[in-house]
Amino acid sequence: MKILANDGLSPSGIELLEKNGFTVVTEKVEQDQLANAINTENYVGVLVRSATTVRKEVIDSCPNLKLIGRGGVGMDNIDVEYARSKGLEVINTPAASSQSVAELVFAHLFDVSRFLYDANRNMVSEGNTNFKGLKKKYAKGIELRGKTIGIIGFGRIGQAVAQYALGIGMKVLAYDPFVNEATINLAIEGAGEIRITVNTTDFDTVLSQSDYLTLHVPMQADGSAVIGATEFSKMKDGVIIANAARGGVVNEADLIAALDNGKVAHVALDVFVNEPTPAQALLKHPKISLTPHIGAATVEAQDRIGTELAEKITAYFN
Ligand code: 3PG
Repeated sequence: MKILANDGLSPSGIELLEKNGFTVVTEKVEQDQLANAINTENYVGVLVRSATTVRKEVIDSCPNLKLIGRGGVGMDNIDVEYARSKGLEVINTPAASSQSVAELVFAHLFDVSRFLYDANRNMVSEGNTNFKGLKKKYAKGIELRGKTIGIIGFGRIGQAVAQYALGIGMKVLAYDPFVNEATINLAIEGAGEIRITVNTTDFDTVLSQSDYLTLHVPMQADGSAVIGATEFSKMKDGVIIANAARGGVVNEADLIAALDNGKVAHVALDVFVNEPTPAQALLKHPKISLTPHIGAATVEAQDRIGTELAEKITAYFN
């Protein structure tokens, strides 16, 4: 049985699938050739990350396809309900990358709090001609310890973010319409495990009382933003925001307006509305720290994802 891993698969995943008798192909097929390749090569399963989409048209054109696997969390690039209604197995790996996303969020929050993204840009061109000027430019950094972080969406990833936040002495406020409370386990080397219960609160409290805000929600079914002009107006002046969830859950035009009028001090963006061609206005903005959708892109997360997919695929076909 042949599996096409069109956006790649970790060596651990490939090894386990091959050990279990599958043939795994990782050669990328262009989106418009996907259905054709699945049919010609007789793939029984197609695995994707966020780059490849598996929409109704592909599903309809591939009668022998049995399984669609998402190596990751968000399934907005797959017509999941339609595929299931046609009898296909659709799987993802919802828990495998939480830690990696949380670490990227904190990498960004430390980064913007000390202007690292901007210093990195300017040190290249001015580091030996304007060292003192740059030192002055970045002289008003802020510490995270003691500040309040608002976590919007308190599922696995939001809770992983809370672990890091609590670990560095931040206050945590969380909002999630489906979660009332969560127990956060902090494993401290040499001190065992500390369990802290976080009760979620209402959306407006999180918006209005947070120094930092981070979003961990899926793309909304109707594509609407969770944060737009109305929500920005409720935030503290000088708030710092991170979005490593999905492009569009923060309205990009309203975000630029909020940065330009000083309401928002800095933003960290890992995800964009128009991937893989994000808006230039975001890419060139002096107050935005940028990464190209790499929240789950760690060796460890991709290893867990590969192994979990291989186990699920093997279980399904057996
Ligand atoms: C996810 O939903 O798992 C993340 O957005 C990761 O996407 P990626 O697999 O394209 O890195």
